[in-house]
Amino acid sequence: MTASELLKLASEARKSAYAPYSKFLVGAALLSDNGTVFTGCNVENASYGLTNCAERTAVFTAISEGVRNFSAIAISLLGGGSPCGACRQVLNEFNPCMKIYLGDENGQLVRETTLDVMLPDAFGPENLS
Ligand code: THU
Repeated sequence: MTASELLKLASEARKSAYAPYSKFLVGAALLSDNGTVFTGCNVENASYGLTNCAERTAVFTAISEGVRNFSAIAISLLGGGSPCGACRQVLNEFNPCMKIYLGDENGQLVRETTLDVMLPDAFGPENLS
């Protein structure tokens, strides 16, 4: 699966975003080591703080289906912005070195990086023992 294929899936998932409050639509596509892709979108709520980001929706979907090993995530949002800190932390749990493809609302690649660059000196499972 190429970065542009994964970004295309992220931009498709973005169309399902439930964001009536911010109107800011986000889609994510998480690539597992076995090649399966899990997608997610942001899901807002009238009680604003309960909003779930697209990246975490994708991670929680994958985990609930028994998949825990990921190599990359593509994120589609206006102008190809950056994943929030909470999502970086949740991604770090499963692969601190995962590739991150940031794309615009059409799934065009804007920036390619890795999670360890975006979340240096992260707190992870190893810090608990
Ligand atoms: N959002 C995401 O889905 N992912 C991010 O990494 C940043 C923010 C969502 C949350 C909220 O629904 C909207 O974008 C505006 O913050």
